[in-house]
Amino acid sequence: MRIDIVTVSPELIRSPFEHSILKRAQDKGKVEVHFHGLRDYALNRYGKIDDYQFGGGAGMVLMIEPIDKCLSGLMQERDYDEIIYMTPDAPTLDQRTANILSDKSNLLILTGHYKGVDQRIRDKFITKEISIGDYVLSGGELAAAVLCDAVIRLIPGVLGDETSALTDSFQDNLLAPPVFTRPAEYDGMKVPDILLSGNFPKIEEWRHDAAIERTKLIRPDLLNDE
Ligand code: ADE
Repeated sequence: MRIDIVTVSPELIRSPFEHSILKRAQDKGKVEVHFHGLRDYALNRYGKIDDYQFGGGAGMVLMIEPIDKCLSGLMQERDYDEIIYMTPDAPTLDQRTANILSDKSNLLILTGHYKGVDQRIRDKFITKEISIGDYVLSGGELAAAVLCDAVIRLIPGVLGDETSALTDSFQDNLLAPPVFTRPAEYDGMKVPDILLSGNFPKIEEWRHDAAIERTKLIRPDLLNDE
């Protein structure tokens, strides 16, 4: 997979890709990530890329021309499966969307800043808009990093143990069951006997029941989704 990220602040988003699973995925050749700074497409030598909004109102808006130049140039080089805009006024990211995107070859992600981007960019280029939750961040960079993490770890071969992504929370619309490791007893707190029994069908059953219990308690809304 190739991911191109277009942003006002490439330096703000680089770091998560330089560590842990996201780094390993790139080292293994499973994903290539490229950052594009919007100021490289600025209208003047002072790096102008934003302006006041028509009609008045607080906050600057990213201008159409620098983004148009950047996206059009990238689109001439390859076909993108999705051109994604990270914004709070969009459907919320979920595991289903991450699964679908993990199967794509080329993703282009535009991150907003300030009050967002000129609406005409959204109308002309964007095929999918994603929010990472009902709160407003200072910019879309961290949201893009969250999206990329959720997607990249699902690319086959990225996680060492293939099954570990399959048993994540949300993969079957359930939260993950509790997990324990050594010691089997600590300060009087015991690990459930069933997990020490070696009876794997029973352990699976226990885990499934525990996942349902936890989901009922914390996220009952998930049980109503199909
Ligand atoms: N940009 C600012 N806030 C955001 C959010 N919640 N999700 C995605 N992009 C954003």
